[in-house]
Amino acid sequence: MEVKDAVFVMSNQDYNKCPAPNIPEVAFIGRSNVGKSSLINMICNNKKLAKTSSAPGKTQLINHFNINNNWYLVDLPGYGYAKVSKKMRAVFEKMIHEYLQNRPNLLTTFVLIDSRIPPQKLDLEFINLLGEWGIPLSIVYTKTDKVKTVELQKNWAAFKKELKNNWDEMPPFFFTSSAKPKGKDDLLNYIDEIIPLFEY
Ligand code: GTP
Ligand code: MG
Repeated sequence: MEVKDAVFVMSNQDYNKCPAPNIPEVAFIGRSNVGKSSLINMICNNKKLAKTSSAPGKTQLINHFNINNNWYLVDLPGYGYAKVSKKMRAVFEKMIHEYLQNRPNLLTTFVLIDSRIPPQKLDLEFINLLGEWGIPLSIVYTKTDKVKTVELQKNWAAFKKELKNNWDEMPPFFFTSSAKPKGKDDLLNYIDEIIPLFEY
């Protein structure tokens, strides 16, 4: 699949106000600054579509984009950003959790993981939470241009080992770099594969 048309639809704090779930959608989530918005721009061939920033905490709302007039792509706020107040973090967490649990059209949640670091408790906890809720997920390693192959393999092996504690089956996984760019076709082909799973 190629993204021929990517249009910003709306931003929301409240899942109730998101577009009607009448076409399939996929969401991008992960720690603040992991590269969600950059990855979205990479797969949509548009550097200005989703707002990116070197300072964490840029995306603060649920952002819907309509792709090829056929499916929604959703950019979510990052989790675990230490510098926001406890109160604000609770607001983000509620927003994300309610969104994830109330979108019957959500075909997969791409959980982005920074390829440069060993497995993080926060990411594993989030993945396990999705599992508990029965929300489909895929794992996307980001910023692979910034890590040596051996280091990447080591981090990924350790991550898989952690996942095996709770998961019988490995979720689909992807290695990406928005800077290089890398992984675009793999992600788009996967989305293309799962879109027919949506029941109109
Ligand atoms: P929040 O919205 O703040 O949660 O962040 P985000 O996950 O959307 O991250 P964003 O895409 O804004 O990127 C954060 C920073 O990482 C920016 O400075 C990007 O330029 C950089 N970045 C993102 N992806 C890559 C990548 O693949 N390679 C490199 N080298 N840098 C990247
Ligand atoms: Mg963002």
